[in-house]
Amino acid sequence: MFCRAIGILRFAQDDKLPAVSLMPLIDKYSRPITDLRVSITDRCNYKCVYCRTGNEGAQYADLPMADYLRMVRVMVGLGIEKVRLTGGEPLLRKGVVEFVRELAALRTLRGEKLDIALTTNGHLLADMAQPLKDAGLTRVTVSMDAVDPEKFARITRVHNGYENVRAGIAAARKAGLDPVKVNCVLMRGFNDDQIVEFGKFAREEDVVVRFIEFMPLEEDRVWSPQIVVTLEEILIRMAEFMPLTEIHHARSETARRYVFEDGRGEIGIIAPVSQPFCGQCSRIRITSDGKIRTCLFSQMDHDLYGVMQRGNDDVVAKFIEGVVNKKEARHHIGEPGFQKPSRSMVHIGG
Ligand code: 5AD
Repeated sequence: MFCRAIGILRFAQDDKLPAVSLMPLIDKYSRPITDLRVSITDRCNYKCVYCRTGNEGAQYADLPMADYLRMVRVMVGLGIEKVRLTGGEPLLRKGVVEFVRELAALRTLRGEKLDIALTTNGHLLADMAQPLKDAGLTRVTVSMDAVDPEKFARITRVHNGYENVRAGIAAARKAGLDPVKVNCVLMRGFNDDQIVEFGKFAREEDVVVRFIEFMPLEEDRVWSPQIVVTLEEILIRMAEFMPLTEIHHARSETARRYVFEDGRGEIGIIAPVSQPFCGQCSRIRITSDGKIRTCLFSQMDHDLYGVMQRGNDDVVAKFIEGVVNKKEARHHIGEPGFQKPSRSMVHIGG
């Protein structure tokens, strides 16, 4: 009688209403949850200074791909429309191409294909871009925090990374993973001299460069308000090269979008610190060990994997609905009494 698992309709189960509702997951602040991020491994082959200490490896287990697939399938049955694969570094995980193929076979509640994206450091992307595209990947985001090779090596602490990442970006463009986005986390005194360079890069390479304000999500204690380069500052500094004009962005989109005055080159700025967008948040996350996180800054996570071991898909769906209902109103970055989240970014998935 329940069609949840095949993702068509959901029945109002508790209140015994005869009504059948096609209703997405909605949290208690009326935010539709349509966007899922799944970390498929806790391992990473980079040691970016703003993310990891460089001493710790993976800290959490990976699950069999079939378990992630079941989690995603149930969530798609509840209204998820976008799935982003993250890590650690997701391309380190064997079976990622096959996993994308299985995701591509799922259909949303509206009967449409999922939007399947991937966030990667790009190190292994050159050889995998085309197979991923063929398997059904829609889009890719590559993290790259400097255009200058030496600076890139200092940030990532990997000496041969730059060429690989550039080759990965080129391969993604060639494969038609459109648009290719490049994420750059700016840290004052470290890579903020790269702002204009990235502006030129966006124009020359025909990629969307997105600057992300640095959030206190690192393993080490390097964050301070002073180290954050804000949206406003980025706009001012880019204008010394060429002014940016804001263009429309979708309500649930995290990035403000800009184009250069002459229409060539798109820049995005994600400003969770100076201009939080929690009110429009549409996301939940699954960690590599199968826990749900309702916010990057959550103080706890929810053991979906444990529930899934014991229960059928209806039990799992009920659990997910309950967890979504506990989603935090907002984060508290920069406020007195801010508590660091219970996991750092690399162990959550971006
Ligand atoms: N603040 C902002 N962005 C971060 N990322 C990783 N750590 C942080 C942080 N502390 C970025 C990565 C990647 C994306 C998933 O998030 O560089 O591009």
